Amino acid sequence: MRVVELVVPDESAEAASDRLWTAGASGIEERSGDGVTALRTVLAADDDVSRSRLGPLPVGWILQFVDVDDAPAETWRDFARPIIVNDDLMIRPAWLVDNTEVGNRTVIDIDPAGSFGLGDHPTTRLSADAVWRSVRAGDRVLDVGCGSGVLSIIAVERGASTVVAIDVAEAAREATIANARRHRVADRIDASCTPLAVIGDGFDVVIANILAPTLVSLAADLRRVLSPTGRLIISGILSGHHDHVLDALAPLEVVRSDELDAWACVELTARTPDFSAG
Ligand SMILES: C[S@@+](CC[C@H](N)C(=O)[O-])C[C@H]1O[C@@H](n2cnc3c(N)ncnc32)[C@H](O)[C@@H]1O
Repeated sequence: MRVVELVVPDESAEAASDRLWTAGASGIEERSGDGVTALRTVLAADDDVSRSRLGPLPVGWILQFVDVDDAPAETWRDFARPIIVNDDLMIRPAWLVDNTEVGNRTVIDIDPAGSFGLGDHPTTRLSADAVWRSVRAGDRVLDVGCGSGVLSIIAVERGASTVVAIDVAEAAREATIANARRHRVADRIDASCTPLAVIGDGFDVVIANILAPTLVSLAADLRRVLSPTGRLIISGILSGHHDHVLDALAPLEVVRSDELDAWACVELTARTPDFSAG
């Protein structure tokens, strides 16, 4: 397996990690020593494709490509830890049996396999909290860019009657089905690679944790699929650098905005409904 390795000064490790997530990493292995951090992930089979997804790198960052056996490439799994989303919700790597800090929380066990959505990325954490707060019993939910299916499963846990989960990546469709089966909710999640453009309308909650350029290109369809009183949850956008995404989604109005580690999650509606109940 061909692995991308970024070697950066320790103080740049978080920025380098964000760059790899943004380029499509589904898990990152980090090792530090002698003032530098090496971050490894798998992006694409072709080095040039990986390089172009990463874009120009700051001076002092070293990009290299390493061939490794499949087994070491899976070592990111050893570094995965449960993520406490809020007082009521935890996302846990499916291969960990770790009940510390579970308390009364609902636990979502996830194996992202070859997709994005282990729960450790700030945008997934922010979106997970927004889905937990927004979905009501009986809601019809659409998860655009479902990745591992983590947000779809949370929506079902909150009582969604059905979740339509779509993604351009076949690996994401497969991971969503596998994770939904693990949670015994596969009958309520319809996972496919159907393009958003041909999805029907009337969804009570629409989730889209996708990078800003894609959100802009999907904006008209995101507005169209939302019911008149529905809520759109977007993430994958950087704090303070997403006005162009909100402009593309107008006349939807922002009703809530949260930030974590330089990433943002914004909730929008066509008109302001009463979310105070429940
Ligand atoms: C940041 S991941 C989010 C995964 C998961 N929903 C989460 O929150 O952890 C974005 C996902 O969007 C998918 N994606 C990118 N462009 C898309 C598009 N135009 N339509 C549907 N899915 C798309 C990617 O394949 C990827 O799985």
